[in-house]
This record gives sequence, structure tokens and C-alpha cells, in this order.
Amino acid sequence: MTNPLRPQRGLDELRPYIPGKPIDEVKREYGLDDVLKLASNENPLGASPKAVQAMISAASSASLYPDGQSYDLRQALASHFDIPFDRITVGNGADDLILQLSMAFLEDDDEVVVSRSSFGMYDIYVHAMRAKLVKTPLAPGYRIDLDAAADEINDRTRIVYVCNPNNPTGTMSTAEEVDRLLDRLPDRVLCVIDEAYAEMVDSAEYPDSLAMVRASRPNVLVLRTFSKVYGMAGIRLGYGFGHPGVIEAMAKVRAAFTVNALAQAAGIAALEDAAFVRQSVEMNRAGRAQLYEAFDRLGLEYAESHTNFVLVKIGPNALDVVEGLLRRGVIVRPMTAYELSEFVRISIGTSEQNARLLSELEGILSRG
Ligand SMILES: Cc1ncc(COP(=O)(O)O)c(C=O)c1O
Repeated sequence: MTNPLRPQRGLDELRPYIPGKPIDEVKREYGLDDVLKLASNENPLGASPKAVQAMISAASSASLYPDGQSYDLRQALASHFDIPFDRITVGNGADDLILQLSMAFLEDDDEVVVSRSSFGMYDIYVHAMRAKLVKTPLAPGYRIDLDAAADEINDRTRIVYVCNPNNPTGTMSTAEEVDRLLDRLPDRVLCVIDEAYAEMVDSAEYPDSLAMVRASRPNVLVLRTFSKVYGMAGIRLGYGFGHPGVIEAMAKVRAAFTVNALAQAAGIAALEDAAFVRQSVEMNRAGRAQLYEAFDRLGLEYAESHTNFVLVKIGPNALDVVEGLLRRGVIVRPMTAYELSEFVRISIGTSEQNARLLSELEGILSRG
């Protein structure tokens, strides 16, 4: 049905984000009782118990508006990461911070450089601001090509995204590669380093982006989230570190109470839950090894992951395999929207969950 109201022209080229299928939807559609979701890089251990307790306590104050400045949470982040308070922002998920920075820094026809296989929300907000996407191809090993990104910088460039480690490939950019990009970046171009999966990385070559923020680099904004290692994806809480000028600009455009009171309380408590973080990271490391071992045995190529998911090459029938897994009650993520149509992205679960996925996958592949 047509509607005479015309959305603004930025929406003309915008392709909506397609999240992983929800468990209940798959249960309904396929008539299943027991569905396993390995499609949205959620934490298979659930949420930090300390965060859950804090939310239960905070619920009794639900009639009051939250602190719009998230003062206590930002103080907790300041002391946890040793970053000055005025260089810290929080949002309703890191996603909200990507929206805020897009609103704060983009105008019509500005250019934003991003890998063609990176987190999809960057593109959506670029279109929404009627700015232009400049896409770079992947480098060998399914890695982001930061030299190619630097080559694309011109007078109209306002933002370069470095998703590190990158979603959906799971690959990491090294400190040397990021430094090389930053050396070529004029100060008027904002480098957004999205570290949603930072806690899962155990490479000595991972850049120390927080040191750049402490050193007052004017044009680096680091994004992190409580969705992954703290298991709080449903609570929606992300945070960012950057120059006070960047943080202030983002604060001007955000919704008045963008981080709710339960999320603020949960975030403060989660930062104290080092044991949960350790457990999550260890389980993830073991699960990654379990998947690698099976993929090697099955002769499936995959990208070396520094995250809680693995990008694996299935072949031209990848979508059929995704559908076959759905029918067996396992949700994984197809990669057509990321120009990786022969691949699927599989979130790492508990060892039992991984075993179920692998057994179903092997069954489907062996039948051709
Ligand atoms: C690279 C990357 N950035 C940002 C986000 C958004 O995180 P949040 O749940 O905090 O909005 C995700 C979520 O999957 C992600 O993969």
C-alpha cells in the first residue's frame, strides 16, 4: 500500500539491519520446542550474576527517571579503565553511540570509510545522515584493510571505522596497522575504533587504543559494550572513550535518558565481576578450539577469530545449510548482507551447544 508521506531521501539506499532470528520465532515457524541460537554473539553463560542482582535492587526505583548524565556509571568506568571522566560516554548499547556519533559528525554528502564486511549498523546511520559510504575490500585472511582505508581519505572524509576485532569476520587489526592508518589520518577525520569484542582478544599485537585516549588524541573514539563478555545484550549498555570535544558533541544529540536506571546499576556491578569475565573468556577460548578442531576435520575453511564467533566457509549452498540448521533447531547467521554469501557466522556456545551445532552441521554436510 502506498503512502503519500515520503521518508527523507537518505532512506532510499538504506537496507535495514537483519538481526539473528529470535528463538521464539523459530519455535513458532518450525514447530520446535528446543531451539539453540548461535547467531547474535550472545554470552552462553547468561548475564553477570552481580549485574542481575544490581538490577533487581534497582527495580524498586523504577518510577524515577534515571540520571541523564549516568554519573555513577561513568565514574565507575573512569576508575576501572583509568580514563578521565570527561572522556567517557555511555549509550543504550554501543549501537546508540554509533547513532549519536553519526548525528554529531555527519552532514549531507560527507564520506565515511568502512570495510565492505563490517558491522552493519555503521552503514545504516551513514545513509540516515545522507552521507556517503566508501567501502574497502577485505585483505587476505578476511582481515580489514586499513591501508586501503587510508587510501580513500579525501577532503570530504569525516569518519573511518575500524571494527577491531571485526564483526563478522572475527579478525584483528594489529597495533602497527592501526598506527599506520592514524599516521595518515588528518585530525579532522574521526577514527572510530569499535572494540565490542576486546575482552576476547589474547594477542600481544592488539592495539592499546585506551592509551591513545589517555594521550588526548583528538580524533580517536573507542567503543565498547556490556553485551558480549558481561552477557548483558538484552539490557542495552555500551560505552565510549574519546576526546572531551567528541564526547560533548555526542551528548548534545543523544536522547535525554538514553541509558535506563537498571542498565546503569547493572553496568557498575558488572565491572566488579572479574570472575564472570574470566569464566566467559575461558569458555569462549575452549569453544573456539572445539569449533576449529571440527572445521579442520570437516575440511571447512574459517577465519582466525579473536571474538566469540567464527566465520566459516560453507560454499555456494551456505543458505541451504542455514535453512537445514534452522529446521533442526539451530540458528546461525547467513552472511549474504556482508558480501560473504558462501559463509556463515557461528557464535561460540557452551561445549554442549557447540557439539549440537557441529553434529547437525556434519549431518547436513554429509548428505550433500
Ligand atoms: C562490532 C559491533 N559493534 C557494536 C555492536 C553493538 O553492540 P550493542 O549490543 O552494545 O549495541 C555489535 C553487536 O553485535 C558489534 O558486533
